[in-house]
Amino acid sequence: MKVALASDHGGINIRKEIANLLEELNIEYVDFGCDCNTSVDYPDYALPVAEKVASGEFDRGILICGTGIGMSIAANKVKGIRCALVHDTFSAKATRAHNDTNILAMGERVIGPGLAREIAQVWLTGEFEGGRHVARIDKIKAIENKYL
Ligand code: RB5
Repeated sequence: MKVALASDHGGINIRKEIANLLEELNIEYVDFGCDCNTSVDYPDYALPVAEKVASGEFDRGILICGTGIGMSIAANKVKGIRCALVHDTFSAKATRAHNDTNILAMGERVIGPGLAREIAQVWLTGEFEGGRHVARIDKIKAIENKYL
């Protein structure tokens, strides 16, 4: 698995925690920044990660900002992206099993690094259940095709 990772200035600490986790799990990843402590615009970091996942260059993406909300909204504008904003391990497992999400968003002003690490680990290892969920994802794709 190859993971694209990015944050804005509001998510730098959790991004570092997730980078450490990916290294520990021997998961290949590329860190797309941000590289500064000054204020940056989260869509500038969500877009390249979302495009790289949508194109298949990366299998998954992880995006962190202050709340995770801006990153998730921006990423979900890219066709083929199913990004879940997650702040608990139950949802992390469920969104892989039911939604086959390919990007995880989290908010550093909402949760601490320890929980973020647990969420990411559950999400990275969670399997899509398929079955009845395939038709639901096909309906999401139909919405994309109608509006994007
Ligand atoms: C940055 O101040 C903040 O707006 C951003 O990190 C994020 O929370 C947006 O949704």
